[in-house]
Amino acid sequence: TDSHLRHVDSMALLPSGAGAIQHLNAVILGEALASEENDLVFPSPGFSSQALISSPEKYGEMYRRSIEDPAGFWSDIASEFYWKQKWGEQVCSENFDVRKGPVSIEWFKGGVTNICYNCLDRNIEAGFGDKVAMYWEGNEPGFDDKLTYNELLDKVCQLANYLISVGVKKGDAVVIYLPMLMELPIAMLACSRIGAVHSVVFAGFSAESIAQRITDCKPKVVITCNAVKRGAKVIKLKEIVDAALTECAQNGCPVDVCLTYDNKLAMDRESTVWKDGRDIWWQDVVPKFPTKCEVEWVDAEDPLFLLYTSGSTGKPKGVLHTTGGYMVYTATTFKYAFDYKQSDIYWCTADCGWITGHSYVTYGPMLNAASVLIFEGAPTYPDSGRCWDIVDKYKVSIFYTAPTLVRSLMRDGDQYVKRYSRKSLRVLGSVGEPINPSAWRWFYNVVGDSRCPISDTWWQTETGGFLITPLPGAWPQKPGSATYPFFGVQPAIVDEKGNEIEGECSGYLCIKRSWPGAFRTLYGDHERYETTYFKAFPGYYFSGDGCSRDKDGYYWLTGRVDDVINVSGHRIGTAEVESALVSHPQCAEAAVVGVEHEVKGQGIYAFVTLVEGVPYSEELRKSLVAVVRSQIGAFAAPDKIHWAPGLPKTRSGKIMRRILRKIASRQYDELGDTSTLAEPQVVQQLIDLADV
Ligand code: WTA
Repeated sequence: TDSHLRHVDSMALLPSGAGAIQHLNAVILGEALASEENDLVFPSPGFSSQALISSPEKYGEMYRRSIEDPAGFWSDIASEFYWKQKWGEQVCSENFDVRKGPVSIEWFKGGVTNICYNCLDRNIEAGFGDKVAMYWEGNEPGFDDKLTYNELLDKVCQLANYLISVGVKKGDAVVIYLPMLMELPIAMLACSRIGAVHSVVFAGFSAESIAQRITDCKPKVVITCNAVKRGAKVIKLKEIVDAALTECAQNGCPVDVCLTYDNKLAMDRESTVWKDGRDIWWQDVVPKFPTKCEVEWVDAEDPLFLLYTSGSTGKPKGVLHTTGGYMVYTATTFKYAFDYKQSDIYWCTADCGWITGHSYVTYGPMLNAASVLIFEGAPTYPDSGRCWDIVDKYKVSIFYTAPTLVRSLMRDGDQYVKRYSRKSLRVLGSVGEPINPSAWRWFYNVVGDSRCPISDTWWQTETGGFLITPLPGAWPQKPGSATYPFFGVQPAIVDEKGNEIEGECSGYLCIKRSWPGAFRTLYGDHERYETTYFKAFPGYYFSGDGCSRDKDGYYWLTGRVDDVINVSGHRIGTAEVESALVSHPQCAEAAVVGVEHEVKGQGIYAFVTLVEGVPYSEELRKSLVAVVRSQIGAFAAPDKIHWAPGLPKTRSGKIMRRILRKIASRQYDELGDTSTLAEPQVVQQLIDLADV
């Protein structure tokens, strides 16, 4: 371990830009900072020796080049992909500084390519045609399916041809509302093949949320299925879509075509709600189309997809990703963060409705010709051993999930894990929220039998791919730390005034320069893009996360510092939940905060003031929760409704959320100064009502 320790030491303080590179030069030459060995979990020498990045020095070399010569670094990688036409002189042009003009980011401008071609045709030409692209495991054990790269290309082309036949053209939006069937990645790839912009809506969102997104991006076609079974429950997705489409039509935003996949295992055709002329069964039309479809070549900066995500205020934001940089970035981060080998079987438990499913179920892995497992069901059905049953069945070697699942399985007990061999596992991954050290250790020791490194990947919908992530095999890990920045990423921790802090510190996590996978705008609202991400700390991209850096240069993410909460790895804006609550006729005002939750990471805690004269009741509590379910989705349902005769506000009327967070977590002795409140007595009232 001695040499490993030297490696870690040599990486100390690495990631803060140009200064860091000088520092790196100094420390590699022998200067070292002390480190506590008991913090560290070492990759085995066997793992490191076969790893793509086998040592901190190798990382250091590549990282240094990526910072000093980003154009050269990323051009070399981009050249491994197929470009109909190479990009122009300038590999990257960016303005991160609002004070100097509009924020803009461009990578590989002038390059002409297609990401679907690079995922499928290019890999088939390279000899992977008969390799399994997707394994599908159904909700019910025993139901499964698979597609090779050849077969996948055929299916994608048929759907692409269908979409063309109904008038979908380059630049048109297509909304996809599907569960984890193989048809979901197929639909994404079919869109990108023809230059259409997909917007996947997680199949847990309500009709209202779908309608909101449709109204914003105005798709020609919506793709869905009649129903899905998750665990023992049947969810009738088509009914939800139907309600959304009816609302959209009434609001002057009709959708012409609703392509519906008949998911026979969950529901029969006859009982599906249907609107003739608009709705059409996938199985009735798509298989009739040819299995060859010409690629629509697009500019590197043409849009690839829109994905709506929650912010601290207002309605969801349409995060827009473009083609070339996203392609290069997701492929590269996937390869290095999971130490990907062609023999791997890869399973990411995320749904394609979230960014993780875009970048690390569909695009990143398929750009690497990986075999990807897709699981339709719930991870604890029929029991808590299901994940490991699947791991053994398919010999999964890379398993990527969220801390919330780790914690819930940990609570159910080791016996469910130990029943299965899991010897195929090689690399584990975590995403979505900070992983607490105890869950990390359980994941590492019990699931991975203390031999599989964990890639705790920090990133966001906006970033397209990993920004801070371990490279397994490169260096020792610290449970709970996402370790070091990926190639080309220059993090900066800044203080309240926006001054960068060096060395061991904590503050707000920002990024100094662009990386290829960065989002380019918020759809239809570039001003909001600039205000939300680039104005708080001019000159930087502000992530919204708090972070600290330890003496060895490891990064520790501490959670959101804005009004966004992370519930079971799902990102929810407190403002959205509040606006759903106040739409209830008996709710006068609502304030929502996150509160620590043993399994979910954060729970949703809502303070609700009722309309004058309305008494609180259990029934009312239920109908308030129901309104959130129907406006956003079940995953956003408040865990607690706290009756609030009044809310703590400043004299200027601003709700003091700091105080609400303390009340929510019952930390009454940490309320701080309440004397500046307009009505200080509300605090005691709230405390008295805590358990009513
Ligand atoms: C949080 C999910 C700590 C963070 C990919 C971020 C994390 C938000 C991690 C983005 C991690 C994600 N450690 N926190 N490894 N990964 N987060 O857009 O607060 O759904 O800002 O993207 O999740 O959530 P989003």
